[in-house]
Amino acid sequence: MTNKPLIRILKDDIIPMPFDCGDEDLNDFFLNDAKLYHSQRLSVTYFEENEDQTIFFFSLINDRITTADTTKWNKLARNVPNSKRRKGYPAVKIGRLGISKKLQGQGIGTEVMDIIKNFIGFGNYPTGAKFLTIDAYRDSIKYYEKNGFDFLTDNDEHDETRAMYFDLMKL
Ligand SMILES: CC(C)(COP(=O)(O)OP(=O)(O)OC[C@H]1O[C@@H](n2cnc3c(N)ncnc32)[C@H](O)[C@@H]1OP(=O)(O)O)[C@@H](O)C(=O)NCCC(=O)NCCS
Repeated sequence: MTNKPLIRILKDDIIPMPFDCGDEDLNDFFLNDAKLYHSQRLSVTYFEENEDQTIFFFSLINDRITTADTTKWNKLARNVPNSKRRKGYPAVKIGRLGISKKLQGQGIGTEVMDIIKNFIGFGNYPTGAKFLTIDAYRDSIKYYEKNGFDFLTDNDEHDETRAMYFDLMKL
């Protein structure tokens, strides 16, 4: 018997277990597009599955927050020493994220967010990243707020998605 790592990267000839997070676009991305995104170096998708379904997935992309992206620059840059102040800071965007519909509301989304924070914010992550970013669906804003994310700008208050960020210095 092989020891399958818990969280794997979706690529090449891997065929993941069925997945339904209740959002057709996210399901379609995971089941049909994620491997192509990987091969084109557009995002890397991580997932975990059990014997009969995919439990969760998330996709990561390099990102950058600049003064033009936010109405809260002073807050974002508040704790940066003067000599290290820049007009932009490196970030990692959670391009897409979903938890199996059958398993939502049990804290798995929060565990997954902790995994992402620790992966990017601590230890051996190979590039610098000061923030996590997300374009949050309206229905999931509470989830991101509960996990320490804040709005990046007031300019998208009426949009379908809202730009949010998590300051990895908070870890
Ligand atoms: C949003 C999502 C990732 C949350 O995952 P989850 O496993 O259900 O989250 P948790 O159980 O860890 O919940 C954490 C907190 O967020 C809140 N929350 C989660 N989903 C919520 C929702 N849709 N609306 C309001 N609050 C929500 C919960 O109330 C919970 O707070 P509590 O513990 O005080 O009750 C999951 O519901 C999902 O995959 N949804 C469909 C896809 C999606 O919207 N992805 C995000 C795209 S930006």
